Amino acid sequence: TGRNIYFEESVNSTQNIAQRLALEGAEEGTIVVAEEQLGGRGRLERKWQSPKYKGIWMSLILKPSIPIMKTPQLTLLTAVAVVQGIQEVTGVQADIKWPNDLLVNGKKLTGILTEMQADSDRVHSLIIGIGINVNQQLEDFAAELQPSATSIYLETKTSWDRAKIIQGIMMHLEKLYLLYLEKGFYPIKILWESYSISLGQKVTANTLNGSIVGFAKGITDDGVLLLEDEQGVIHSIYSADILMET
Ligand code: BTN
Repeated sequence: TGRNIYFEESVNSTQNIAQRLALEGAEEGTIVVAEEQLGGRGRLERKWQSPKYKGIWMSLILKPSIPIMKTPQLTLLTAVAVVQGIQEVTGVQADIKWPNDLLVNGKKLTGILTEMQADSDRVHSLIIGIGINVNQQLEDFAAELQPSATSIYLETKTSWDRAKIIQGIMMHLEKLYLLYLEKGFYPIKILWESYSISLGQKVTANTLNGSIVGFAKGITDDGVLLLEDEQGVIHSIYSADILMET
């Protein structure tokens, strides 16, 4: 992966560009990287602040031959690759909070957003957006994000070459993706679990249909989070914000 790289100075969202490229038949492994996004998107319809030269704002196109139901597997795989790439290049060890936030000491370093193009129930293209806070100082974050966000700079007191980090991530991504194509999701799931901080914890899942409090028991082979509530009922969580009790 990563053989076709599109660099952009300023874009609305790298997701939009990657979507267009995917429709135009871009190869699997194509990535779009921008210095700045004016309309960066986060999960659950949130905005994603993407200040110029400060972070890694990129979208990756994958074309796995899988049913739609299995797409969370690739988001989890990406989270593992990003943890490993950041760790290898910068030494920063991030934890994964389900489904795919990367945290350092509870503060958010990275977000991942997966969008897809599908033909009936098969995936045509996955557009995996990765946003990594790299060289921000505290004042580069909006005031309301300052308590809950971090950057690699803030964790290491060093500025980092963003291209090196992208390279590290893509190397791990390629390795994990080949492993996935050969052996399926199981080995990826084991790795994901080893980096996860949500599992075994009491958490609150805020879903569109309300909140569920329970113990995070694990993830299924499709990447769905399993929560056991106080009555012992197991809930399958497909999409939610997870709050962890500290
Ligand atoms: C989240 O945690 O809410 C996901 C954030 C994803 C941000 C990245 S930055 C590159 C790509 N382009 C976007 O507009 N969003 C993703």
